[in-house]
Amino acid sequence: MAKSVKAIFAGSFDPITNGHVDIIERAAKMFDKLKIGILINPNKQTMFTVEERVELVKKTLSHIDNVEVIFFEGLLIDFCKKNDISVLVRGIRSSADVDYELQMAHMNKELEDSIETIILPTNTKYSFISSSLIKEVLHFGANIENLVPKCVLEELKKKKIK
Ligand code: PNS
Repeated sequence: MAKSVKAIFAGSFDPITNGHVDIIERAAKMFDKLKIGILINPNKQTMFTVEERVELVKKTLSHIDNVEVIFFEGLLIDFCKKNDISVLVRGIRSSADVDYELQMAHMNKELEDSIETIILPTNTKYSFISSSLIKEVLHFGANIENLVPKCVLEELKKKKIK
């Protein structure tokens, strides 16, 4: 039997957007197992706690069988080595993302040659979405219902009201 290939799509997911979901749905078809790795970064202030982000990502992706949601701290490549993950999946929205993504891919390759990065261009209809822009426009009362999953929209509204 062919070796099963485990991949990871890692990020901050503060919060998960429809752009993330697009990449995840497509990547889940390409690999036997896809982990969604939510970064705990003690130096970065997030709107959602790691527990909240895990919960929202799990709810959003409940329709995909081969996806598992986890959180991690430290180097992504170390998490991959410990968990037998051989592919890093990243999404790019436009040429503006390319330099940063290449830099990370090259650094990760330098740190662990056996782990490959696969970069998927996002669907054009999501190319302008980012978690930070969503939080910014919501703060000023914009309608973002087409940009994030329903459960995220509800939680964002609750945060805004507080
Ligand atoms: O959604 P993001 O914030 O663009 O995701 C970036 C992420 C989490 C993939 C990246 O910052 C990361 O891998 N962080 C963990 C620490 C690490 O491995 N840093 C070296 C990256 S070359």
